[in-house]
Amino acid sequence: MTNATNLAESFQLGPYTIAPNMVLAPMAGVTDSVFRRLVLSLGGCGLVVSEMTNAASVSPKAMQRHRLLDYLPEERPIAIQLSGNDPELVAKSAAFVEQLGPDVIDINCGCPSPKVTGGGHGSALLKDLPKMSALLKAVRKAVSIPITLKFRAGWDEESLNYVDTAKVAEDAGVAAVTLHPRTKVQGYAGDADWTRIAAVVQAVSIPVIGSGDVRTAADALQRLEETGVAAVMIGRGAMSNPWIFRQIEQLRHGLPVFEPGPADKRDLLIQYGKMCAESMPERNALGKIKQLIGQFAVGLRNSSYLRRDVQRAKTIEEAFELIEQFFDPFISGQEEAVLEEEEIAVLKEGCENGANNRPRVAA
Ligand SMILES: Cc1cc2nc3c(=O)[nH]c(=O)nc-3n(C[C@H](O)[C@H](O)[C@H](O)COP(=O)(O)O)c2cc1C
Repeated sequence: MTNATNLAESFQLGPYTIAPNMVLAPMAGVTDSVFRRLVLSLGGCGLVVSEMTNAASVSPKAMQRHRLLDYLPEERPIAIQLSGNDPELVAKSAAFVEQLGPDVIDINCGCPSPKVTGGGHGSALLKDLPKMSALLKAVRKAVSIPITLKFRAGWDEESLNYVDTAKVAEDAGVAAVTLHPRTKVQGYAGDADWTRIAAVVQAVSIPVIGSGDVRTAADALQRLEETGVAAVMIGRGAMSNPWIFRQIEQLRHGLPVFEPGPADKRDLLIQYGKMCAESMPERNALGKIKQLIGQFAVGLRNSSYLRRDVQRAKTIEEAFELIEQFFDPFISGQEEAVLEEEEIAVLKEGCENGANNRPRVAA
């Protein structure tokens, strides 16, 4: 059993103290400003990261309307994540992005998507550490805010180089590293091997953030304790349960842990839908609800029907109605909220695919 009282509650990222030491993972197509604000509003999350942005798409002109780089002041501290391959180009983009005022720039060397690695970005850089080093040094020189690196354990099991990669990053002046310990070839198969993260903690003196398969508050505290990481990053676990950060905070302080009921779930889905509708065209907002519902509405009897019906909705109002209708009997007590085998299978399948609605990229 984790002794939560002895666990670090914050870590230092350059000049910032990140507290609590729980981080919302970057997830392309998911963790836009709306989703980040939703999670932050529930409490317990100390740092958020933008969706990955291709450095080549960043220019002073494009920046004025670059949706991926949008954030609001209440999201601070925030890291903006860039991918790229050409050290000078990424450094130049990072300097532009710095002018937007984020707190951190994160460099993606983990994305396994063939579209990304084909251009030599993302985890392709794991095959060329001298290039990665040059890129990190160039970015370091171009900006005055801290830079961080997010990476995978290696290209494949035959070329595991996570310890070397972390050392390269430390030498280049990176302020912290995040390891998702699967390989590029592995995708999302198998389990995230946190012993690899623990090995990186031993090898470098900068803060190490661990990412992969944290699904419950207890998982997060156990990872902190067992590996000595400075912080834990949570991705898919926050899609299916955006309250996870608050639950971690409560668990570590010995407080009763909030368990969302059907009414909380309904309200959050509708709140999310409304927030999306306020900041994007209805078609996109509807797509966002469909995406979240795939992960979120798991565990209630017949939720597969809700997912199916909402997928067919043509308007936001229709989706809201379906959500209300679905949750009503649970809230009025006519139906018992239970986890069914079928639901668990769908949840697992969703995890293995990264997300139910296919992401544009996944690192
Ligand atoms: C839909 C999706 C999109 C992702 N997009 C990114 C991304 O843009 N940048 C990145 O560094 N990692 C990305 N990841 C990887 C996550 O940040 C995280 O490292 C990985 O999912 C493992 O953590 P988890 O098990 O908590 O989800 C993505 C993952 C998913 C599922």
